Amino acid sequence: MKKPAHHVFVCASFRMSGEPQGVCHKKGSGQLMQYLETELSDRGLGDVSVSATGCLKVCDRGPAMVVYPENWWYGKIESEEAIDAIIDSIESGTPAAEYLLA
Ligand code: FES
Repeated sequence: MKKPAHHVFVCASFRMSGEPQGVCHKKGSGQLMQYLETELSDRGLGDVSVSATGCLKVCDRGPAMVVYPENWWYGKIESEEAIDAIIDSIESGTPAAEYLLA
C-alpha cells in the first residue's frame, strides 16, 4: 500500500445521523472537493489524497479543510481560487496565509 505524502480532509458536515446539514456542505464544500480532486490530478499530484470528513468544529469559518501532515487548517474556502491557493501551498511547502485558521 502506497501512503500519500499529504492528505487533505474536506469538511462535508457529516453528523451522527449521516445527514450533511452543516455549514460547509451548504456552502458548497462538495463541489469544491470535486474541483480539488480534478486540479490535483491535472497537476500530477498523485501523492496527495483527498477525503471528506465530518464537522471539523470550526463551522463559523467554513467551508473548512485541513492538510496533513502539515496540520494546516484552512477556512473560508469558498472559491476555486482558494482551492488553487491551497494546492499551491502543498506544492511550495508554504501555507496559504490568507486562508489559515489561527
Ligand atoms: S460543518 Fe464544517 S466545520 Fe462544522
